Amino acid sequence: MYYTDEQIEEVRSRNDIVDIISGYVNLKKKGNSYSACCPFHHEKTPSFHVSREKQMYHCFGCGVGGNVYTFLMEHENLSFPESVEMLAERAGIQLPQQGMDPDAKKQADERSKIKDMNKLAAGYFHYMLKTDRGAHALEYLKGRGLSDETITGFGLGFSDVYRDDLYQYLKSKGYADEELKNSGLIRFDEKNGASDQFWNRVMFPIIDTNNRVIGFGGRVMGDAKPKYINTQDTPVFDKSRNLYGLNLAKKSKRRGIIFCEGYMDVISMHQAGFDNAVASLGTALTVGQVNLVKRYTERVYLAYDSDEAGTKAALRALEIMREFEMPARVISLKPYKDPDELIREEGTKGFERRINEAISGIMFEIRILANNYNQEDPQERTGFQKEAAKRLSLILDPLERGNYVESVAKEYNISVESLKETVTKYGISGTAKVDTSVFRDRSSRKSPEEEKEQKQLKTERLLITWIINDDRLFKSLKEVLSPDDFFEPVYHDIVKTLFEQYEEQGRVMPAVVMNRFQSKEEHDKAAAIMQQDFDMEISEADKSKVITELVRSIKLRSVTHRLEEAKGDLEKTGKLLLEKAQINRIVISFL
Ligand code: GTP
Ligand code: MN
Repeated sequence: MYYTDEQIEEVRSRNDIVDIISGYVNLKKKGNSYSACCPFHHEKTPSFHVSREKQMYHCFGCGVGGNVYTFLMEHENLSFPESVEMLAERAGIQLPQQGMDPDAKKQADERSKIKDMNKLAAGYFHYMLKTDRGAHALEYLKGRGLSDETITGFGLGFSDVYRDDLYQYLKSKGYADEELKNSGLIRFDEKNGASDQFWNRVMFPIIDTNNRVIGFGGRVMGDAKPKYINTQDTPVFDKSRNLYGLNLAKKSKRRGIIFCEGYMDVISMHQAGFDNAVASLGTALTVGQVNLVKRYTERVYLAYDSDEAGTKAALRALEIMREFEMPARVISLKPYKDPDELIREEGTKGFERRINEAISGIMFEIRILANNYNQEDPQERTGFQKEAAKRLSLILDPLERGNYVESVAKEYNISVESLKETVTKYGISGTAKVDTSVFRDRSSRKSPEEEKEQKQLKTERLLITWIINDDRLFKSLKEVLSPDDFFEPVYHDIVKTLFEQYEEQGRVMPAVVMNRFQSKEEHDKAAAIMQQDFDMEISEADKSKVITELVRSIKLRSVTHRLEEAKGDLEKTGKLLLEKAQINRIVISFL
């Protein structure tokens, strides 16, 4: 769905950023701006600022920032069009349904209908749980230690023993058989007609990161098989691209995301305060799922069952994590079977301790490896050491590898020297890479060129801040400077928009500038400058001097750059040389 600039701007201007963000964060008013602890990173002192005047937010701690759209995109994981739609609805603005081809529209409608049916079904199951007919299901969940709050929080429910009560209910809401069939909630066969897919089970609605119900898991209340039935794949339910609990975990302030195996594990962990737990949907971990969590965290913990199947699953998961360069640590649950059991026995403190004692993925793999060999037998011991060395040789970072070699040598009584040697032998290709990275590390001190560039960017940044904070600047600036003089693409775009705003409306509106940008990097970069305020305790004369210097420096870089490009073109070169000669005559004055 594409919206015009006018529509986007109208929706934005009718949703005050302070009102929107207050709905999520406890803002405290301070002068002209509002501040709070940042919802995007963990902190104790507030460095998250929201400005009503500018209609922007920015966190000085972690660097995120933007306008209302950015905030919703980041906080609710919405796409840009979705955040426009959400705010339009809030402001009572009717957006046209244009721009979609009929096929895409039909599919979008179908998906949206399925989500609506799922939502109704979830409500129905939850309602049933609270009736007399669901009393035993409620008792089952309570018996497993879940509080009312948890049961409501996860929207748990009960599917009754009637053959088709959900079917009748959804029919009464106006859905046609064909639509119900797509939802995965109702089964149709020639002999019996329609019947409910879920029957006499406690129900776990599966909710995506946009807070939509996309499917269900249903568990028997006894030992019957199959223990769980999950919704089959539907146009909205893709088991390989969603995670149970991520809708909540994405908002967690805890560090990292904890992967576990079962729905019940996730729920127990959240109840115990570990609201960063998620689980896959009855299948092994997939690449799509790791990709998904990568948006929300920079590290994961695995809290898989301590049995053989769980260990295997963890090893496989670690392989995927490695592919995605996602640091992973493994939590040991022994002697308990799964997180649910551990929490029941040892509580929040016990689990917290296990998180702190979690070991890195590599150490876990080597520990498993060690168990497969008889360390008393010299031949087997050699075999183990070789395999361990192979693993270690996969670590590309030399420092990290060195550290691991040392801990493995220590833990398994191997001489550090010989282990190192074997690791090097296995890692010939790896070693080559390592050497260049060592080289890069050493040269990470900035080259003169890089330093010059950094300085240049800072100059551009400062000038933009001045432009935003002092409307009078524009008149004299437009005589001598154009947006094309700005080197950094994001800054160039900002200046271009600011100039246009001055021309057309006689003032700047920073939040409107943000509409131009769609990627997170751009939003952060743009917000960081536009949210900057100067201490205005500086005399007009000094201000003129400072700004004149900034403008000259930007101009000089720009002309020098264009001179290089014009090499060979005498006419252009002549003009540019003239321009260059005049740079030192530029004076920006407020008078
Ligand atoms: P409890 O046994 O009630 O504690 O549930 P659990 O969530 O801990 O389940 P368990 O550890 O046995 O299994 C982990 C996950 O695998 C479950 O949450 C389901 O997603 C899935 N699963 C388990 N059994 C079945 C099954 O019989 N069929 C399907 N499709 N998935 C299952
Ligand atoms: Mn369990």
